[in-house]
Amino acid sequence: MLQLISIFIGYLLGCFQTSFLIGRVFNKVDIRELGSGNAGTTNAIRVLGWKAGVLTFLGDFLKAVVAIVLVRIVFDGQAYALYAGLGVILGHNFPFYLMFKGGKGIAATAGVLTAFDYRIALVACLLFIAIVALTRLVSLGSLLLATWIPVGMYLFYRQNIEIIVLGFVFMFLAFYRHKANIKRLIQGNENKLGQKKLT
Ligand code: G3P
Repeated sequence: MLQLISIFIGYLLGCFQTSFLIGRVFNKVDIRELGSGNAGTTNAIRVLGWKAGVLTFLGDFLKAVVAIVLVRIVFDGQAYALYAGLGVILGHNFPFYLMFKGGKGIAATAGVLTAFDYRIALVACLLFIAIVALTRLVSLGSLLLATWIPVGMYLFYRQNIEIIVLGFVFMFLAFYRHKANIKRLIQGNENKLGQKKLT
């Protein structure tokens, strides 16, 4: 039951769609109709500019941190915090008030990992930066980051099967939301960071 409450608290916070709100308030556009159609940092950089991208990252990252800290204060236990993180990703990716069309959850996942266990977050961050710096493929960096999550959970929490399973759920959610990106990566025509004309 506490798991469900944690997911619900996270979901409500996750529904705060930073890029959508920035686009609506400052640019009078729906970011989901522009660029890749994703309500996230990469697409905010692409269609709204760097400042909006940085703000989007901060907003999406921080809502995850808030959810985890909140649930950790209310319920004692690492796993509950991770359920709240799962709720944040679900709220971010599938916001009820936007017809369940949100983002891909990577900035929020970074927030979840940072608040949950900085060691796992640090490796995720380094992997992501290295891949993006080498290839300029944000989606590839995101997918590698996602793949690391269950591995990191296993390495640091191997005594807790619940946490490892949740790690796989995070990975699955990221892969599911990157279906179109994976297709383009395989075809060799994935959009690169800084690329204006999209494939
Ligand atoms: O975090 C989203 C990123 O991995 C891909 O974004 O807009 O290129 O689909 P986008």
